[in-house]
Amino acid sequence: MKTQVCIIGGGPSGLLLSQLLHLQGIETVVLEKHSREYVLARIRAGVLEQGFAALMREAQCGERMDREGEIHHGFFIADGGRLQRVDLHRFSGGKSVVVYGQTELTRDLYEARDRMQGVVIHNVEDVQLHDLATDRPHVTYRAGDEIVRVDCEYVVGADGFHGVSRKSIPKDVLREYERVYPFGWLGVLSRTKPVSPELIYARHDRGFALCSLRSQVLSRYYIQVSLSDKVEDWPDNAFWAELKRRLPAEVGERLVTGPSIEKSIAPLRSFVAEPMRWGRLFLAGDAAHIVPPTGARGLNSAASDIHYLYHAMVAHYQKGDDSGLDGYSARALARVWKAQRFSWWMTTLLHTFPDAIAYERKLQETDLAYLFSSEAAQRSLAENYVGLPF
Ligand code: APR
Ligand code: PHB
Repeated sequence: MKTQVCIIGGGPSGLLLSQLLHLQGIETVVLEKHSREYVLARIRAGVLEQGFAALMREAQCGERMDREGEIHHGFFIADGGRLQRVDLHRFSGGKSVVVYGQTELTRDLYEARDRMQGVVIHNVEDVQLHDLATDRPHVTYRAGDEIVRVDCEYVVGADGFHGVSRKSIPKDVLREYERVYPFGWLGVLSRTKPVSPELIYARHDRGFALCSLRSQVLSRYYIQVSLSDKVEDWPDNAFWAELKRRLPAEVGERLVTGPSIEKSIAPLRSFVAEPMRWGRLFLAGDAAHIVPPTGARGLNSAASDIHYLYHAMVAHYQKGDDSGLDGYSARALARVWKAQRFSWWMTTLLHTFPDAIAYERKLQETDLAYLFSSEAAQRSLAENYVGLPF
């Protein structure tokens, strides 16, 4: 098989890039390890920056997002008994975010790829990247007993944190930066009316909690749990009781509970791999970086990589201009690190760290007090939350 750009991974990063390049007449093949059903069963984040929403529209995938997604102009931070609103719209110069689940967004991208007869090959095994340091790279994979070869001009590694692409960069070139947090998030999806029309990020001595939503009839809640906790340790009633304890009383009283339709625990991690380009390989999304979910940056950082890579490839193929490809790693990383900083800061601000010394707890209290006494601090929070410019 032959193509221009071989994309490893059929998550949001890979599909969005494939769709955008197709619309510019650039051929791609997407290789995905799992079935479409498996990819679409994963419940993940749900807050999109305006820039990401614009990219979805440019990819001709924004129709359902614009119809069903909710525009949010703010969110709340709860601290013990207090509830304070962050006015994103006011403090970001009129911007907002779109609440639309990653699962739905991925479904829209798959449907668009189908509409345009895009080549997305599922259930590929044993993907290997070859000759990346030459100008004729190729990728091989196994389909049953057969080894299939894809010849291409560029390879994009959009295969998530556990993918093969990052591992194809030689060890003496690749640098990895990582922080693992001493807790996880237990998430529950339930067909109940959300407790608040806007998100609530709650700091509490018992641990962080988040009230989020997918629609006005579908709620997504999280609580901070210990890394040793298992999903089985948290039957629905224990989850609801703990969530309620961590919310201000007036909010807890309004909480509508119901059976969970999904429940999972995710560890929290910050991770960046540098460089994001090696030879003819470009990394994008979770393959190159991970953030803790507190600032809703994960999916949005993936989208900003795709924005840079898409424009760089279009400049290469349509104008013979390689400056975007040459500058991709540095440009993408500059924004990635800002998202890392913000996610680390929001995580530190709102979680209970088991080993924190009294001095650190005082600083955390002061950080929150400063935030709500300073317009400049709220501006900074809003600017980062709605997404820094590309
Ligand atoms: N070969 C082919 N595909 C692979 C391989 C492999 N060796 N390894 C992993 N994959 C696939 C996974 O099955 C997955 O569908 O690559 C895809 C990667 O998708 P995601 O993990 O969703 O990563 P990405 O597309 O970068 O999405 C951005 O940001 O913070 C997150 O929740 C957010 O998942 C979202 C991500
Ligand atoms: C979610 O709805 O899943 C969600 C929202 C905001 C976050 C993290 C997760 O910061």
